[in-house]
Amino acid sequence: MTQEQWTAVDRYFTDLLVPPDPALDAALQTSAAAGLPPHNVSPNQGKLLLLLAQIQRARTILEIGTLGGYSTIWLARALPSDGRLITLEADPKHAEVARANIAGLSDIVDLRLGQALSTLPQIAAEGNSPFDLIFIDADKPNNPHYLAWALKLSRRGSLIIADNVVRNGAVIDQSSSDPSVLGVRRFNELLASEPRVSATAIQTVGSKGYDGFAIAIVTTDQ
Ligand code: SAH
Ligand code: DHB
Ligand code: MG
Repeated sequence: MTQEQWTAVDRYFTDLLVPPDPALDAALQTSAAAGLPPHNVSPNQGKLLLLLAQIQRARTILEIGTLGGYSTIWLARALPSDGRLITLEADPKHAEVARANIAGLSDIVDLRLGQALSTLPQIAAEGNSPFDLIFIDADKPNNPHYLAWALKLSRRGSLIIADNVVRNGAVIDQSSSDPSVLGVRRFNELLASEPRVSATAIQTVGSKGYDGFAIAIVTTDQ
């Protein structure tokens, strides 16, 4: 199986199941035009985020890692008009592109510029938590910290989703010194030993290569 086939099959499903959408299509176009890295979720993964948020009946969402706002728009679409999504982004250029892309969702989406480990304590102090869904998709070395914050900002029943937990299979390389691989491995181990969650992880192939996501539900009162 080749990347070409994975991409073609992703295109097949996207053409069938993910109709073109002006705001989402524009977000991808402006992100690429501004030279942002192509690290957004794929269209069919974005739709999965929407469906998971809908299944969860989420009213409050926290996203760590905005990039150009592509996944943000997908997640925000699941929310009722009085719902709230806070998204955290450290790179001013990414945030600027995202702000333009989420302009139509300004009643729902609140983008916070800064290192997530600096903005997360502020969010905890503001009393916006608990969040119904938390999407972790920023700098992978900090994933263990993001899991701790996700738990702190959760309630029983909150859903925690983390992107990029496979990284082309590097996740099982015990000798890796790549800080991202180390961060993801530690995150997976913490998820496994954490008594407050029930979790699994799924490998994926597609237009974004070979990767995967972890999904956890908080099973205890926080
Ligand atoms: N969720 C996006 C993709 C995010 S890519 C989507 O699917 O559309 C990861 C993003 O995390 C990048 O924009 C990067 O600048 C941001 N990031 C990296 N380190 C960060 C940090 N410490 N705090 C907040 N954001 C960070
Ligand atoms: C990278 C980050 C992501 O969130 C992603 O989905 C793909 C790649 C990266 O940093 O390489
Ligand atoms: Mg990602």
